[in-house]
Formats: sequence, C-alpha cells, structure tokens
Amino acid sequence: MSRPLIPDPALRYIAETFVEEDDLLRRVRAEGEAHRPGMQVSPVEGRLLYVLARLIGARRILEIGTFVGYSTLWLARALPEGGELLTLEADATHADVAEGFFRQSGQAASITLRRGPALDTLAAMPAQSFDLVFIDAMKREYAEYLTAVEGWVRPGGLILGDNSLLFGAMYGEPRERISPAAEAAMREFNQRLADPNRYDAILLPTAEGLTIARKR
Ligand SMILES: C[S@@+](CC[C@H](N)C(=O)[O-])C[C@H]1O[C@@H](n2cnc3c(N)ncnc32)[C@H](O)[C@@H]1O
Repeated sequence: MSRPLIPDPALRYIAETFVEEDDLLRRVRAEGEAHRPGMQVSPVEGRLLYVLARLIGARRILEIGTFVGYSTLWLARALPEGGELLTLEADATHADVAEGFFRQSGQAASITLRRGPALDTLAAMPAQSFDLVFIDAMKREYAEYLTAVEGWVRPGGLILGDNSLLFGAMYGEPRERISPAAEAAMREFNQRLADPNRYDAILLPTAEGLTIARKR
C-alpha cells in the first residue's frame, strides 16, 4: 500500500508557515478549480516556483500552459523591476479568463500571453534567452517543447516540467488512461533532463512530480 510522501498535516503546516496567498491568488485558484478541477499547481507548488525563480534571479521567464493564470502570477511575482514573463495558451476561454486576472494584478505590464498551440508559437519565435522555462501543457508534446526551448535557456537557468510522473505512468501504476505517445514523450523528457553532462536535475516527488533541471 502506498501513502503520500508528505502527509496532509505536514503540507498544511508548510502552507500555513510559508505560503501566503492574497485575495487575487485565492480568486484565481477558485476560478480554476470551478472551471476544471486539478489543473493548477497547488499553493505550495506555486510558492516553490516563486522561490526557484528568485533563487536564480530570473528576469525572463517562459511558461507553456497558462490555464487561468495561477502559476503565471506566482512566477510573475518573482520578477524584478523590468522583468518579463511570456505565457502560452491554446484555449481562448482560458486565455480570456487569465488576461482578466492579469489586468487585476500589479504584474500586468510584465506578462505577455500568446494564444495558440504552443509548438506553433515557439516555432515562430526568434531565438532568445530565458532564465526559467516552466512546462505545464500537453503531456504528449513535452519532448518537443524541450527541443524547442532548451537552446534558449541560459547556462545556470532552469527548465521545470510539471506532472512529470504522468499520473503514475512513469513507474507503471497509471491512475488514468495514458496514451502511448504521452508516456513515450514524458519518458524522453525526463531521460534527456537526467543527462548529467547537460543538466543538474531531479524529479521532485510532489503529488504529480515536478522535474527540475539546471542547465550546465
Ligand atoms: C495544467 S493546465 C496549466 C495550469 C497552470 N500552469 C497552473 O498551474 O495554473 C494546462 C494548460 O495548457 C493548455 N494547453 C494544452 N495544450 C496546449 C498547447 N498545445 N499549447 C498551448 N497550451 C496548451 C490547456 O488549455 C491548459 O490551460
């Protein structure tokens, strides 16, 4: 029988001690949960994204998979004055809701949302440099996202991939139906980032798995 690596009371203690959600973050999370439950990072994971971005002094962040903007706002709050965050979203309704929230935040000037399938957007973008890339969109495209962005991450920069245990599929205990394409893509994504010649990386055992890779 398996049990969570971190018991719920411990998570509650961590959240109470280290995570302060203001009214906007609470509203964004509630809207996301009402719209499609389970899509967003948790408050503790949001705080983790914020801390990671602060640790490396991220000034330019790319996010793939906005949803209604919860993780976007955590990351944007980590930016210094003049920092930039580009977030990519395919679904027009999600993008509309997210942009509404961004306008209510103090970070609107630093956030740009691009609509459309991420691989098309990435293919049309000129080469550029990012300090941090957070990948949280279509699971069967993770390896292609990595191919598109890894040359743009500066040495010492971070590539983060959410849901990288793929709902249990990575260790043979899928909790839902996973397509062979998604499984192959996530396996390739993790395997490439696990290459010690190119990255210092770990898959953090969060509820869904978060791969964290620092480019060497
Ligand atoms: C798991 S949700 C993102 C959650 C968000 N990062 C958060 O934690 O608040 C995934 C999002 O990716 C979007 N998405 C799915 N496929 C996509 C694609 N090919 N290109 C861009 N966005 C995509 C979905 O519409 C959805 O809003």
